[in-house]
Amino acid sequence: MSILVVGSLCLDHTLFVSSLPGRGETAIAGSSLVSFGGKGANQAFAVKRAGGEVAFLACLGDDDAGEAYRDHFEVNGISPEGMISSADHPTGSAFLGVEDSGENFIIINPGANHALRPADLDRHRDLFDEAGILLLQMEIPFETTVHACRLARQYGIATIINPSPWHDSFNTRDFPCDVLILNEHEMAALVGDSGWRLELSLLDRLGIQILIVTQGSKATLAIDTTGEVLECEPPEVTPVDTVGAGDTFAGAFAVAFSEGRELGDAIRFANQAAALSILRAGAQGATPIRLEIDSGVMT
Ligand code: RIB
Repeated sequence: MSILVVGSLCLDHTLFVSSLPGRGETAIAGSSLVSFGGKGANQAFAVKRAGGEVAFLACLGDDDAGEAYRDHFEVNGISPEGMISSADHPTGSAFLGVEDSGENFIIINPGANHALRPADLDRHRDLFDEAGILLLQMEIPFETTVHACRLARQYGIATIINPSPWHDSFNTRDFPCDVLILNEHEMAALVGDSGWRLELSLLDRLGIQILIVTQGSKATLAIDTTGEVLECEPPEVTPVDTVGAGDTFAGAFAVAFSEGRELGDAIRFANQAAALSILRAGAQGATPIRLEIDSGVMT
């Protein structure tokens, strides 16, 4: 079952520091990295590396970065068919600081990501027609994401949303989906209560089938329409760079879901992929392949 990712791509410019500077402070970096990122592209890459069949619909700039991104995806076996170009905007870029503890900050210049319009999705309806699952994040215009959700309903394909970066206007009424993947902070913001609990009534209220809440190194919680609440402990690792871990989780989960695996099993697979992804620097450069996820060892 093919997975269609509609979303963002960025060129990531990362500075590695021992400790992130506070406001008004200057820090000296020990090293730097320019790498391929963007939440949508990271998810698509994670799907491919986890052994899934993927199509990617995104907008890049008509510039060197866009050209490099297109080549990068082709070399890695992801078709550039759905990667359109904007002559008016640069390829998206992100500026990141990562400290020794693995914590980070990210500032995004969306560029061409904000030029991906609903009409572009209409021009690529064939990708929706061929897909079994739609995977989304929130770095492209809201109306485009909403339109993707509606097209998915029209074509009868399951939608998984990881609403990151979080925006207070996100709700599942406007963004109809089947599976929601959130971190614990996004979950509190969504339900307006930091003392949330996973209950069947929540699925009814949100109009979804599966709710997954990741909690960093703590257990990932999940509930589906059986009402059973799952708690899946992620593997213990010492993080090098946590950038893109959530994207890797979402991509790997989508693959396991597409294979019809039990919810707990799919979450354990995604937890393993995310844990391995934080052992190396960079978002996509750290994404594990299927063999590594299955064995739990980075080769
Ligand atoms: O989730 C990590 C990603 O967020 C980075 O690759 C950066 O591009 C930002 O979009």
